[in-house]
Amino acid sequence: MKKITVVGTGYVGLVTGVALAEIGHHVVCLDKDVEKVELMCSGISPIYEAGLEGYLAHHLRTERLEFTTDPAVAIDGAELVFIAVGTPELADGSADLSYLREACMTVAEYLSGPATIVIKSTVPVGTNDLIEQLINEHALYPISVVSNPEFLREGQALYDTFQAERIVIGSENKATGELLQEVYAPLARPVFHTDRRSAELIKYASNAFLATKISFINEMAALCDQLGANVDDVAWGMGMDTRIGHSFLKAGAGYGGSCFPKDTKALVQIAKEVEHDFQLMKAVIDINDFQRHRILKWMKDHYTNMRGLRIAVLGLSFKPNTDDIREAPSLKLIEALIECGADVVAYDPAAIPNAKEVLAERICYAYSVEEAIEKADGCLIMTEWNEIKETPIEVYHYLMEHAVVFDGRNCYSLEDAKRAGVMYYSVGRNYASRRSGDGVKGKD
Ligand code: UDX
Repeated sequence: MKKITVVGTGYVGLVTGVALAEIGHHVVCLDKDVEKVELMCSGISPIYEAGLEGYLAHHLRTERLEFTTDPAVAIDGAELVFIAVGTPELADGSADLSYLREACMTVAEYLSGPATIVIKSTVPVGTNDLIEQLINEHALYPISVVSNPEFLREGQALYDTFQAERIVIGSENKATGELLQEVYAPLARPVFHTDRRSAELIKYASNAFLATKISFINEMAALCDQLGANVDDVAWGMGMDTRIGHSFLKAGAGYGGSCFPKDTKALVQIAKEVEHDFQLMKAVIDINDFQRHRILKWMKDHYTNMRGLRIAVLGLSFKPNTDDIREAPSLKLIEALIECGADVVAYDPAAIPNAKEVLAERICYAYSVEEAIEKADGCLIMTEWNEIKETPIEVYHYLMEHAVVFDGRNCYSLEDAKRAGVMYYSVGRNYASRRSGDGVKGKD
């Protein structure tokens, strides 16, 4: 058992803290947010993540997990300090390292002996070197810095931690890398050792590659619409080749969330700093932005005028099983619909409280799919929650004023939509309905 401090209790920090406690370590999590720390001390998770609260409450009882706002309590006596503070996007797309610098200075001030600093925050290449220099300039004891990027997905964070496909450890000396491997040993997951810079880049490269797959299939969807093919079948047929694989080939309204949009832009900046024009990444970002314009165009072409129309929006979070609306494509589309004069009624199984903070009274909120679509002139699907996918398509026909569904996540089959008499727009596969002449309108 090691005494570990985790600085920052956002998604990565809290999940890491809980997981380290679960595998037997004594963990103290430090955060500046008093309210959040009080919540966690009483066993309540400030983030929406299935299963997390159970582990949190359990390890408060085992006393292997503590939360504090006091750096002295958290850092004194720590053998390892994990830093998991945010690195938000600056106006030019680069990563803001101010929280990280502040966290490092705090660690340097309160360390009471030699320690290993583990950087989990996503940081530009070379940042770990700077951190090591910065802390060593201010700390009384020697410290080593290890890069240990995090690959967890929101909504599956515990699974991704306990069943991690790889634990990447970037260190400049063997002993430090091995010490971190020992910390993770109870997980019995594959470990990959490399140097710090490569570890930092693995994180960006992984997210950028997944984003590239999504933009690729979204671009294929645009082609499918023009060529009369079905993007779901194209993706499936491609994915059967194990060199390509099925994952991240779901065409839709585009990627959102706290990582892909931020990390793709940061990678363009990282490249720019070494005078490399990362054209592929710029195209990935542009294609992603374009997805919502495509969907808006369906709507503008369908309705000559949206003023006063009741438009139901199903799904606000950037993906299912989370309440996170950061960079959610739904938000920008809703803004565009408001601008067009539509009356928006939104429903999401989890994200309404967060959406209210951003959209406030500019739209109405419903508390079920049915309530949202009742008497609506159109329905826009932005997140493929099970609850939405499992709503029979006939329900739209029965409840809506005009059964027109713009599906940004391809939740329904074209056949079902046709059978139910719903006018159905979806991403990259509307050709089938057009050819069969059933009146379902295409994008063009
Ligand atoms: C991502 C990475 O998967 C994870 O490894 C990293 O640590 C953090 O960033 P997350 O942001 O939680 O995780 O979401 P993810 O499940 O990867 O989805 C990201 C976005 O891509 C979502 O908006 C999702 O709707 C979209 N997506 C995903 C698609 O549009 N099509 C797909 O095929 C897959």
